[in-house]
Amino acid sequence: MRIEEHVAARLKELGAEIRQGVSLAEQTSLGIGGATDEILLRRFDTIPEVMRVLASENIRHKFLGGGTNVLVADGELPWVALHLPSTQPGMRVEGNMAYVDASADLGGMVTFCAKRDLGGMEGLIGVPGSVGGALRMNAGAYGTQIGTHVREVELYRAASGELETLRGNDIHFDYRHTSFAPDDVMLRVKLELPSKPFKEILAGIRVCNEKRRASQPLNQKSAGCIFKNPPGGSVGKMIDELKLKGHRVGDAIVSDRHANFFVNAGQASCSDMLKLIDDVRERVRAAYGMELENEVIVWQN
Ligand code: EPU
Repeated sequence: MRIEEHVAARLKELGAEIRQGVSLAEQTSLGIGGATDEILLRRFDTIPEVMRVLASENIRHKFLGGGTNVLVADGELPWVALHLPSTQPGMRVEGNMAYVDASADLGGMVTFCAKRDLGGMEGLIGVPGSVGGALRMNAGAYGTQIGTHVREVELYRAASGELETLRGNDIHFDYRHTSFAPDDVMLRVKLELPSKPFKEILAGIRVCNEKRRASQPLNQKSAGCIFKNPPGGSVGKMIDELKLKGHRVGDAIVSDRHANFFVNAGQASCSDMLKLIDDVRERVRAAYGMELENEVIVWQN
């Protein structure tokens, strides 16, 4: 979607930067997605007004974080992408509290805190993506979930149209799910972390890194696990048992390393990936009578 000049001029007055015809394939870990204009939100205080302008001009939008858990449609997209600029380092520590920008890299946050003797997030070390994306979906791995440590979140609340600060206790964090609305925009988070010597944290990080390297296709284009796990089970194991590793639609392939990772082995399109997802979902339904829920977020229209 192209932003008309008069709208672009108004958005620029509000401190936003417009990038025209951006390929989302280049901004997503799957390497899939069409083109659209992108609005870089350089000022937090004007976000409510930016949103009002978009609403009054009937411009649909989607907020793109690290792009590591989304499958974006092919071709010219009927919405614009909103993005926060990355900040360096975008985090600071005071006592046991870490104050982190949503645009910061999740792994970068884990090591930044570790170097300051704050632990508890070792399991998140290899999880790709931004802190904001991790917050929104309560990212987790190896026994750690980010929500456990959240004390405050500063965000743009779509429901009120204003910037708000929520206390950790007022947010529900479940397995790969939170009480944030889909169009809330995470801006900053305050986390409380346990004190731990750097060396100990590093040892934990190494263990998680090794496990991840041994079981996940880290060098291939993916969005991590495609489906959520059912309580107590592993969808990867189920798909593997159905002998679906290597199953493909075009260049969209069930990873031969971890069957809940679907990789783009070259030029996979969104529709290839969606066909593969539907096909695997159907086979799991037929074999196990179980309806799989997507973990990956699909932006089809
Ligand atoms: N397994 C297989 N074949 C496979 C994949 C897994 O037999 O192709 C078996 C493993 O051998 C193991 C069991 O299934 O015995 C569980 O595997 P794993 O430890 O990889 O855990 P998972 O349930 O498949 C979950 C998360 C991952 C997270 C790991 C480690 C979900 C959907 N997946 O995977 O998170 O990294 O645990 O904590 O919750 C993600 O969410 O994108 C993600 C990658």
